[in-house]
Amino acid sequence: MRISVIGCGYLGAVHAAAMADLGHDVVAIDVDAAKIGLLAAGTTPFFEPGLPDILSSSLASGRLVFTTDISQAAGCAVHFIAVGTPQSVGSNAADMRFVDAAVTALIPHLSDGDLVVGKSTVPVGTAARLREMIAASGSHAELAWNPEFLREGHAVNDTLAPDRLVYGLAAGARREESLAALNAVYATAISAGTPVVVTDLATSELVKIAANAFLATKISFINAMSEITDAVGANVTELADAIGYDARIGRRFLNAGVGFGGGCLPKDIRAFVARAEELGLGQSVAFLTEVDAINQRQRTRVIDMVRGVAASVDVDVATARIAVLGLAFKPLSDDVRDSPALEVATRLSALGADVIAFDPEANGPAHVRFPDLVTAETAEHALTGADVVVVATEWAEFIELDPVWVAGLVRHRAVVDARNALDAAAWRAAGFTFVGMGRP
Ligand code: UGA
Repeated sequence: MRISVIGCGYLGAVHAAAMADLGHDVVAIDVDAAKIGLLAAGTTPFFEPGLPDILSSSLASGRLVFTTDISQAAGCAVHFIAVGTPQSVGSNAADMRFVDAAVTALIPHLSDGDLVVGKSTVPVGTAARLREMIAASGSHAELAWNPEFLREGHAVNDTLAPDRLVYGLAAGARREESLAALNAVYATAISAGTPVVVTDLATSELVKIAANAFLATKISFINAMSEITDAVGANVTELADAIGYDARIGRRFLNAGVGFGGGCLPKDIRAFVARAEELGLGQSVAFLTEVDAINQRQRTRVIDMVRGVAASVDVDVATARIAVLGLAFKPLSDDVRDSPALEVATRLSALGADVIAFDPEANGPAHVRFPDLVTAETAEHALTGADVVVVATEWAEFIELDPVWVAGLVRHRAVVDARNALDAAAWRAAGFTFVGMGRP
């Protein structure tokens, strides 16, 4: 099948390469010439495990081309809209300019019978509005919504082998044709048993935002519990293990720590609240404002923990040398958008601390946002001479650090485990004052 993918960010670049890997002919389009230049040369503009392999094999096969020329979408049967919907400047609502611009630019190149498929996370009602926009242009192309659930760091596998497919289809004469087109796009996953949920446009938009809202709520729930366990000397990890055995609850996304960040969860819950308020339904999702507040509080809590642990080794945080391990919003990613780790590092710097940070992949992206942030080339370099160590992103190489080796590098033995990822007993045995999130 001939497919166009409009938008080559985390979502679009992976989707384009994955579709080509599945055997489709793909034209991937973006307005950013520098990004297109890199991708066309087989270089990924961001870190995503597995993407370089399918990118280079798809380019070599000739099934994947990158261009800034939207007219190259002409002749494709299915057009995926995969542009970003970031938080608007000065409001909590999603910024829809990129989606609107992509569809507006695509319309002149559509043929009757084409299917435009939205993948971006959008406020409910967007798909119906875009469908009307296409019809009003005189085009006889149809529009469907097919939300994406990929996680950064696992994006290739999540795209090639998703745990479910959701199709939002409009009622009408073209419904069966749209269903058949999407089934053809995803034939490989469907034949492997991936469940398909076929629904209406609005439900499909809500599925995505509800899924992210639920995940964010789960994380803030356990972080709220960790505030309580901290106060009473209980253990949030054991609490999560124990409640997680209940299949109705489940253990995943119950890791307490510095909280969620990234380009999705934080802005999606805010956009959901903003959209619900527009609909006069603010009360229905008011709890998400609390989910956001709990999440933000964890960042301040980590700063307070650093202050406390520094004091325990007779160092003032304002003069301490602090090794911040991790800058990405989570491991296996170089994404620092709304990263709790990066915020902790920069807030400690603002307090006067001598911060030296290290992330295996995100030093560069962190520098783009904070050019003054001091970063190290290795964890060893960051740790050398530190008064306090903060593990802010749970990369495997930090979890695997030998505390005895670290003890030989640092000036004072004080560690804040902001991800509850370390073996507290081993660090304490190596002489560290150890502070975790809601666990002794
Ligand atoms: C999230 C969703 O998980 C995807 O399903 C969705 O497709 C994507 O957003 C999106 O909307 O595009 P992602 O942003 O890649 O994916 O990251 P997650 O793996 O969900 O992690 C989000 C944040 O939660 C990270 O900062 C992570 O460290 C934090 N987290 C996760 C916790 O603090 N505790 C946990 O137990 C799990």
